[in-house]
Amino acid sequence: MKQYPAAGGIGAKILAPSILSADFGRLKEQVAETAKGGAQFVHFDVMDGTFVREISFGQPVLRSLRAETDLFIDVHLMVVHPETQVESFVKAGADGITFHLEAAEDPLGLLKRIHELGVRTGLSIKPATPVEAVYPYLSDVDMLLLMTVEPGAGGQPYIPESTDRIRQLKRYITENDISCDIEVDGGIRASNVHVPLEAGANVIVSGSAVYKGDIRKNTEEFMRLLQ
Ligand code: DX5
Ligand code: ZN
Repeated sequence: MKQYPAAGGIGAKILAPSILSADFGRLKEQVAETAKGGAQFVHFDVMDGTFVREISFGQPVLRSLRAETDLFIDVHLMVVHPETQVESFVKAGADGITFHLEAAEDPLGLLKRIHELGVRTGLSIKPATPVEAVYPYLSDVDMLLLMTVEPGAGGQPYIPESTDRIRQLKRYITENDISCDIEVDGGIRASNVHVPLEAGANVIVSGSAVYKGDIRKNTEEFMRLLQ
């Protein structure tokens, strides 16, 4: 398991560029550009064609990427039956596994298994799932991922109602003295990253705004805004 996080403890500001928007023919070089720009994570979006409509990539791609980067690989499972997948993703090189509350039969049992496998635990909810639904699990979660778009595709606009959801989660975590990162995913660009940051998020996923254009420059700009 990689040292987490490269840049400090829970609450440290982290950029997690999503390779969903990368050019897969040049994945190694493009991920290296994000590392040179200062990004600490690789956000690895796994889509199964059932939980979400499209299919992205899985364990074989993760194995190849693991051999090429020391960045923390943050696996986001957008799949049904996540309990059947976690072992093989850890084996393939994941540093953290996030699954969807909506897809899990026994969320607490699965969080415990991920923890036992020696990687960081993540739990995610879609925009329509009430924030309260995650409260019972938070003490077993290292990172809570709030989707700020409907999962399934890069390049969608940030849903404005997400900001109050981030605030609500942040307030609950603070009031109950829970140690947990807040990750946000979807529609985040240099022009609006201050919105989730000010609301209390500290791990920022960005796909198209990092990987379209000059990847290193885009990453550096985000890193400046995360200071
Ligand atoms: C959406 C994925 C995201 C996506 C974000 O289902 O979970 O990680 O790649 O892409 P942008 O930043 O382009 O919205
Ligand atoms: Zn994602």
